Amino acid sequence: MAHKLLGLSGSLRADSSNTKLLREAARLYGDAAYTEANLNIPLYNGDDEEASGLPGPAQTLVRQIADADAILISTPEYNSAITGVLKNALDWVSRSKPQPWEGKPVAVMSAAAGRAGGIRAQSMLRSCMTPFKVRLAPAAELAVADSRNQFDAEGRLTNDRYEAALTRLMEALKDEVARGH
Ligand SMILES: Cc1cc2nc3c(=O)[nH]c(=O)nc-3n(C[C@H](O)[C@H](O)[C@H](O)COP(=O)(O)O)c2cc1C
Repeated sequence: MAHKLLGLSGSLRADSSNTKLLREAARLYGDAAYTEANLNIPLYNGDDEEASGLPGPAQTLVRQIADADAILISTPEYNSAITGVLKNALDWVSRSKPQPWEGKPVAVMSAAAGRAGGIRAQSMLRSCMTPFKVRLAPAAELAVADSRNQFDAEGRLTNDRYEAALTRLMEALKDEVARGH
């Protein structure tokens, strides 16, 4: 059966290069049913949580993570860090009981305007994931530089080296899924 892949993009832009990178990752993964998460979630506020629990989009995200065989996360770099959108989503999900993340195979990547392709944001993302006890796919970091110029009109990566690195990352993720929980 096709593996269920869930993509989390740290950018809400309709033309986001991180969202395109996730779609390329799902294509290169191969036989997969790919869903894109909606990270447009109200800002975390402890009073709101106490009054009403997790907002609808956060509950949906928790369910999608729990249901996925593997998760892809791509973040832009904003001022050397992950985006507030992504951190806010991770914080809401962390408030759910039980935790949906534990033991999930996860591949992280980044795409950014700068020459380093958001590598600082990506290493911050790796440390943000530590409390959730996920299984990060062991592969070389994929950081897409000059991200707005790396995709053609169909959203395909135009640089063979990025495509090859993303393929290797997806192979590592598939191996994690095959290893089971
Ligand atoms: C607030 C802000 C801060 C940014 N800081 C950085 C940065 O530190 N390093 C970098 O490479 N790009 C930085 N950028 C540019 C983003 O990498 C660029 O907008 C990128 O394309 C965003 O990803 P997206 O196409 O998925 O939206 C910044 C952009 C914004 C809006």
